[in-house]
Amino acid sequence: MNLGFIGTGNIVTDVITGICNSKISHNKIIISPRNKKKAQYLKKKFKKIIIAKDNQAVIAKSDWIFLGVLPKVGESILPKLNFKKKQTVISFMSTTNYPKLKKLIKKKIIIIRAIPMPPIRLGKGPVAIFPPNKKVKSFFDKIGTTIEIKNEKLSKNFWAISGTMASFYELLAVLSNWLTRKKTNKSDAQKYVTLLYSALAELALLNSKKPLKNLVNEQTPGGLNWQGVNELRKSGYYRLLEKSLRKIYKRL
Ligand SMILES: NC(=O)c1ccc[n+]([C@@H]2O[C@H](COP(=O)([O-])OP(=O)(O)OC[C@H]3O[C@@H](n4cnc5c(N)ncnc54)[C@H](OP(=O)(O)O)[C@@H]3O)[C@@H](O)[C@H]2O)c1
Repeated sequence: MNLGFIGTGNIVTDVITGICNSKISHNKIIISPRNKKKAQYLKKKFKKIIIAKDNQAVIAKSDWIFLGVLPKVGESILPKLNFKKKQTVISFMSTTNYPKLKKLIKKKIIIIRAIPMPPIRLGKGPVAIFPPNKKVKSFFDKIGTTIEIKNEKLSKNFWAISGTMASFYELLAVLSNWLTRKKTNKSDAQKYVTLLYSALAELALLNSKKPLKNLVNEQTPGGLNWQGVNELRKSGYYRLLEKSLRKIYKRL
């Protein structure tokens, strides 16, 4: 099977890195020339990469075509592209919904929307897909954990949650900058904060069948963590987080 990618940006680079380091069997990976720098980097790094001359050439050589362009770009280029009958299109575009994709692609082919996230480059993390599809599920299960979603309205909620990634990284940056200002060197500060939060996330994952609230409630009353969460709660920090989720959702 040949895999084609239109748009060679951040998320496509992560997905291709995940694929090339995984057990996914594929013949060639055909990428579009833009972004030139990233396309050259991928070609140098992995044997099976071919840089096509343009987007239509990616489609001509591929069985599955992944759309890794920004929604505005995708919406302007898709009507000019011709897909073949038995092809599958997997779109990563956040705000281009399923009915719109169908209209833009015109051909009656399999279309899947997927939400890969950067840790896919490590073969980790959830990949929400809509609509459910066995082959696509099995593919993403080799570079993460696929979550199949039955209707598009529900899938928008997952897109909204995926839009909190940068605020999580901002939290890590704020905490480590705070430590640095208190005279810890930057590298130790970043090491402490990232090790702490990745371990906390691992523990939460192990406990994810039980209510996550248990991890909050087990804090000692009057203790440091109890103080921290209560102060943030009172100040409206978590209400603001939900408000921001609602605003992200509205764009989807
Ligand atoms: N980043 C994430 O974590 C993430 C997660 C899930 C979904 N997504 C979705 O994935 C899509 C890409 O996001 P991204 O963060 O990877 O963006 P990005 O880094 O800006 O990548 C977009 C790519 O599209 C290329 N491009 C622009 N015009 C093109 C054209 N006419 N034909 C072919 N390629 C063209 C750009 O090349 P140039 O640099 O040459 O302009 C760039 O390589 C978005 O729709 C986003 O919603 C992203």
